[in-house]
Amino acid sequence: MKLGIASDHAGYDMKEMLIEYLISQGHEVIDFGPSNTDSVDYPDYAKKLTKSVVEGESELGIGICGTGIGMSIACNKQKGIRAALCSDSLSASLTRQHNNANILNLGARIIGDELAKDIVDKFLNAEFEAGRHQKRIDKLEK
Ligand code: RB5
Repeated sequence: MKLGIASDHAGYDMKEMLIEYLISQGHEVIDFGPSNTDSVDYPDYAKKLTKSVVEGESELGIGICGTGIGMSIACNKQKGIRAALCSDSLSASLTRQHNNANILNLGARIIGDELAKDIVDKFLNAEFEAGRHQKRIDKLEK
């Protein structure tokens, strides 16, 4: 899968860890930065990531900050983005199945690396179930 990933300074280490993990799993990863832990503003990186997902360059995206909250708020400002902040694996599966989420947000100061990898796996391996969920997505888009 072709995936976009972005963070702020607080999410940088987790971003780098996940890039290595995703590549080892056979995914192609577009890194929207940042490239170090200097302080940055998460809306700037959310903007690059959401643009890539909306335009179809990235099939799905991953956005990371300290809590995951700022990134998820910023990502959801973009029309066409359904960003889900997940701190557990079941939510990661269900947000793909029910919400057709196209961006996963993670809080690097909230969860550990092993849980983050499992959440990412569940998010990437689940499929949207459409059916009764589609009309709810349509309402979101309107
Ligand atoms: C940065 O210190 C922190 O505020 C940010 O990463 C994030 O947690 C905001 O929601």
